[in-house]
Amino acid sequence: MPHPDRFLLAGVMGWPVMHSRSPLLHNHWFGKHGLAGTYVPFAIRPEHLAAALRALHPLGFAGCNLTIPHKQQAMTIVDEVDTVGRRIGAISCVVVRPDGSLAGSNNDCYGFIQNLRQSQPGWRADAGPVAVLGAGGGSRAVCYALAQEGAKQIRLVNRTFARAKGIAEEFGGPIEALPWESRHDALDGAAMVVNATSQGMTGQPALDIRLDKLPKSALAADIIYTPLETPFLAAARSRGNRAVNGLGMLLHQGRPAWKAWFGIEPEVTPELRDLLERSLSAQG
Ligand SMILES: NC(=O)c1ccc[n+]([C@@H]2O[C@H](COP(=O)([O-])OP(=O)(O)OC[C@H]3O[C@@H](n4cnc5c(N)ncnc54)[C@H](OP(=O)(O)O)[C@@H]3O)[C@@H](O)[C@H]2O)c1
Repeated sequence: MPHPDRFLLAGVMGWPVMHSRSPLLHNHWFGKHGLAGTYVPFAIRPEHLAAALRALHPLGFAGCNLTIPHKQQAMTIVDEVDTVGRRIGAISCVVVRPDGSLAGSNNDCYGFIQNLRQSQPGWRADAGPVAVLGAGGGSRAVCYALAQEGAKQIRLVNRTFARAKGIAEEFGGPIEALPWESRHDALDGAAMVVNATSQGMTGQPALDIRLDKLPKSALAADIIYTPLETPFLAAARSRGNRAVNGLGMLLHQGRPAWKAWFGIEPEVTPELRDLLERSLSAQG
């Protein structure tokens, strides 16, 4: 629990890191809870990651988040990785324990599911087939989360088929890897489609996908949040599909981190979403 005579510290390590909206998110929560503390962006070169993580304890940090490109390398540095982190093969959060040892976990799955629950009350993973596009780090968290939530069929499509096949073999269960050419057909009869590629992100071309086979009742989700509305989401929305962007995934993954660092589970409120949306819109 927070201590009145202690200044609370946490941060995010990345390279680069200045694009991260995590400081805005976490510093909002410090203010909201009336706590003396701060959350800082650390620009850490990959070759300095081990030294930086080990410095958290002597500096009095409760822990940190990890962003590109550190999520995998950090697994080899921390003292313990939880089951979710091990299964996904990446960690997004480090907790400094009282003895100075470092515990790694992955909260991206939690963020993905909680965002769906908050923005689409009544959402169920087993409502019908789910098509997931992309097989990178974000997709691994999405696939793991959907399988854990009871999805019965996950059609995983990726440009590099071997990567999708790797996830299907590793996670097993409801995941079926499909070649990239079949992505348009993979939407046939789907209850949900998730863009977990980097396509549609600011600076990247739009995701090349035809939505004509996607049922109008299906939910379209994107894990990208820059821009807030990708061309994929805009196209889905314009034909009548419900659409969920990736901002809530970012917001919700911060909650278990706070619980582990400071013993508090902060809320994702409309005010917080608005704060982040304004910041992202101002970026253009
Ligand atoms: N909302 C959140 O909290 C959150 C969390 C994690 C990630 N994200 C976002 O999700 C996106 C992906 O991140 P990531 O970490 O998963 O990246 P990543 O590990 O680099 O994976 C990128 C994915 O995009 C695919 N891709 C890249 N270029 C493509 C192209 N021209 N055509 C088709 N597919 C292409 C890759 O396919 P190949 O395997 O063929 O290269 C791969 O599946 C980023 O925008 C990231 O910011 C958001």
